[in-house]
Amino acid sequence: MSTTSSSSSSSDLSSKNKKVCVIGAGMAGLAAARELRREGLEVTVLEQRDGIGGQWLYDAAPDAGDPLGVAGVQSSMYASVRLNSPREVVGFSDFPFFPTGAGSDDRRFPVHGEFLRYINKFCDAFGLMDAVRLNTTVTRVAMDGSPSRWTVRSKHDAGDGEVETEEVFDAVVVATGHYTQPRLPAIDGMDTWRRRQLHSHSYRVPDTFAGEVVVIVGCNVSGIELALELRRVAKEIHLSTKSIDAGLTPAMSKLLDKYQYTNLHLRPKIEHLRDDGTVVFDGGESVIVDTIIYCTGYNYSFPFLDIDGKVTVDDNRVGPLFEHVFPPSLAPSLSFIGIPSKVLLPRFVEVQARFVAQVVSGKRKLPSPEEMTRAVEEHNASKEAAGVPKRRTHDVFLEHDEYGERVCGFPRMEAWRKELIWLSYNGMFDDIETYRDDYHDSGLVCDALRLHGWTTSRR
Ligand SMILES: Cc1cc2nc3c(=O)[nH]c(=O)nc-3n(C[C@H](O)[C@H](O)[C@H](O)COP(=O)(O)OP(=O)(O)OC[C@H]3O[C@@H](n4cnc5c(N)ncnc54)[C@H](O)[C@@H]3O)c2cc1C
Ligand SMILES: *[C@@H]1O[C@H](CO)[C@@H](O)[C@H](O)[C@H]1NC(C)=O
Ligand SMILES: *[C@@H]1O[C@H](CO)[C@@H](O)[C@H](O)[C@H]1NC(C)=O
Ligand SMILES: *[C@@H]1O[C@H](CO)[C@@H](O)[C@H](O)[C@H]1NC(C)=O
Repeated sequence: MSTTSSSSSSSDLSSKNKKVCVIGAGMAGLAAARELRREGLEVTVLEQRDGIGGQWLYDAAPDAGDPLGVAGVQSSMYASVRLNSPREVVGFSDFPFFPTGAGSDDRRFPVHGEFLRYINKFCDAFGLMDAVRLNTTVTRVAMDGSPSRWTVRSKHDAGDGEVETEEVFDAVVVATGHYTQPRLPAIDGMDTWRRRQLHSHSYRVPDTFAGEVVVIVGCNVSGIELALELRRVAKEIHLSTKSIDAGLTPAMSKLLDKYQYTNLHLRPKIEHLRDDGTVVFDGGESVIVDTIIYCTGYNYSFPFLDIDGKVTVDDNRVGPLFEHVFPPSLAPSLSFIGIPSKVLLPRFVEVQARFVAQVVSGKRKLPSPEEMTRAVEEHNASKEAAGVPKRRTHDVFLEHDEYGERVCGFPRMEAWRKELIWLSYNGMFDDIETYRDDYHDSGLVCDALRLHGWTTSRR
């Protein structure tokens, strides 16, 4: 083990009253705050916005001057977003997302505001708000001077001018989410296109698309859901997809056959854009278009990290990160919660938060930096051997339980919950337009719901 590395510091950090800075007060940051406090650590959560909840804190007015989100973005929720997994499985392991009655949205897949209320309740129930400093944007995180002491620079603005602060912490937990930097395709003619173009992050309501011809680029969940919403008001929707037989595109084709929408068309990739408003697709077909919406996802981005390239983002692989959490050369005083995708939230960030809290408090030991580095390399090599592209390095979909058990002894999920996840996942692939309202539970699920007293409403 290297003597200069802070990795020897799992013991340095073992005493209590260590100060930990958590960046971001979304589900991941709040989960971290709770677990760190449970281990007796002193926690400060810095959040740039004027409320908690991260993506779920709806922002009705995204920056109109930056529709492509080049300067970075905050919440990307649009008005009609409903949960895409059943509320019975969405919740912290010990704090279920029960329907509350009293005029709230008690459906299995409620609207986003209902989930924000749940996050706020969680925060209140565990008294986390006094750890959170709002309106505070972290601008620089660096290890100046002594190893394993972090300097965190932030700017606070409560509407009365900006104040810059520098503070020192024993550990930093990054929980800033996946959706701060929109990813844009490189399409010939994009730069000189004079009609409207936006990234999906700035889409909120369908009104301004009425009567328009719209091209939606990207046939992932967001592209499909926007296409289905906009087809009700737009003249025509052209959904452009990289590959006709990959991902969710086959599910979309099935839907088109089933419902015979006359104004929604699947198109191949865009070949180029012309100044007169023409969009030319691969193969030569073209349409004249009013608006292009890029549903092309996001890049991981940590503009505040000043750590000599010890963690890099390469084609959406953040690394090296042991178990997607700890950079071997800076562990355990720097960690990341919420990097994986295709996971069940908030349960997965609860697992990672517990892992971090146990390690930072000294309760659990990490392998040596060399062993951690080797584990990361092995993980990446096995993904590559299985044909998983680099940008999918952090997909953890089928390894959820094994992961939790391995990193912090987290209990496995009950069989009925797993079954419910699969039922709704299959429902989504079967009919992405209706699966949230039209579903059928198995006997196992029905029995469990009865036992646990779940009564969701159907509307
Ligand atoms: C349209 C849409 C629909 C979605 N639907 C679902 C769904 O149905 N189910 C589901 O599970 N997930 C869904 N998601 C994913 C959603 O992002 C996660 O559920 C969840 O928000 C992840 O939590 P997080 O805490 O990791 O990140 P976030 O919620 O993104 O929180 C990160 C926080 O960090 C703050 N922050 C960032 N940078 C800084 C900085 N420099 N200084 C201070 N603070 C900073 C941000 O302001 C934010 O509050 C959806 C996302 C979108 C955009
Ligand atoms: C955050 O800033 C806004 C103004 O941008 C202000 O209205 C609000 O009171 C501030 N909140 C806190 C907790 O400082
Ligand atoms: C769709 O996007 C999500 C989140 O950005 C990602 O996890 C998923 O792998 C993507 N799916 C496809 C088929 O590209
Ligand atoms: C996102 O990442 C990709 C792949 O690394 C890169 O080519 C692209 O320029 C990035 N896009 C933005 C907007 O940062």
